[in-house]
Amino acid sequence: MLTIQDALRQGSGLLQREGVAAARLTAELLLCHALGRERSYLFAHGGDELTEMAWIHYGRYLHRRMKGEPSQYITRKQEFYGRPFRVGPDVLIPRPETEHLIEAALERARGARRAVDIGCGSGAIGVTWTLETGCATWASDISPAAVAVAQGNAERLAAGVRFAVCDLAAAFAPRSFDLVLSNPPYVPDREGPLLQREIREHEPAVALFGGPTGVEIYERLIADAARILVPGGILAMEIGYQGETRVRAMLGEGWVEPDTRRDLAGWPRVVSARLAP
Ligand SMILES: C[S@@+](CC[C@H](N)C(=O)[O-])C[C@H]1O[C@@H](n2cnc3c(N)ncnc32)[C@H](O)[C@@H]1O
Repeated sequence: MLTIQDALRQGSGLLQREGVAAARLTAELLLCHALGRERSYLFAHGGDELTEMAWIHYGRYLHRRMKGEPSQYITRKQEFYGRPFRVGPDVLIPRPETEHLIEAALERARGARRAVDIGCGSGAIGVTWTLETGCATWASDISPAAVAVAQGNAERLAAGVRFAVCDLAAAFAPRSFDLVLSNPPYVPDREGPLLQREIREHEPAVALFGGPTGVEIYERLIADAARILVPGGILAMEIGYQGETRVRAMLGEGWVEPDTRRDLAGWPRVVSARLAP
């Protein structure tokens, strides 16, 4: 039988040969998942033998990862803003860059009393917002399967978010919110073939593609936000690396105080603005 150390060595070797990035870390995460243990366990018990069942599970997980499935869909977990979210192939894996949207909104609208997360996916934004601020929060997605995942996350994390399945903000009444948060799909359709295999073959297309140039959905999102925000309310949107100029140009005269927040790599990441009072 193999020890934990042997299994990690073999697993990371296999992953490396398949060109999987961060092979050793990935092997550790998959072995933790097979054992139902935290990472610290691997270091304290490196000489322990694996049970046959753990070895079988670990082998299956390695195989799935080598075929291009993201680790997060195998372990069903991704952390966002310090909290564990359950994820699966019905939702985008929340990205660390999206935490800048939370930061931008905290700076501009910490005191919001009613907020909505449009295109909620796993619920990462809406759940985080309500837990960070105590604000009454709603969330919508066009995908019923995504809303089911987000509802599960809200329940597990004890966040009282209310959900709707609808196109953008169609389910919400005019002037209902003082904050609209959104990370809409923004990859240009034509860039599909350029995406990493993990994204292209496994993450839902409805969560990725924003139209021929990638910014088409923002026209509708901005119009919807203008309808559901109270005067003086804040709209904060994540954008793709090429989206800043075009998205800011879509904010017409009805919007004031436009702002762009950059991510740690210096790319424009969040555009926000205030609906004219
Ligand atoms: C980029 S993902 C963001 C998911 C999540 N908010 C996050 O940041 O991890 C975009 C989400 O928007 C949803 N979506 C796409 N088109 C939509 C539409 N017309 N109305 C509502 N939701 C939409 C997708 O199903 C997907 O969950």
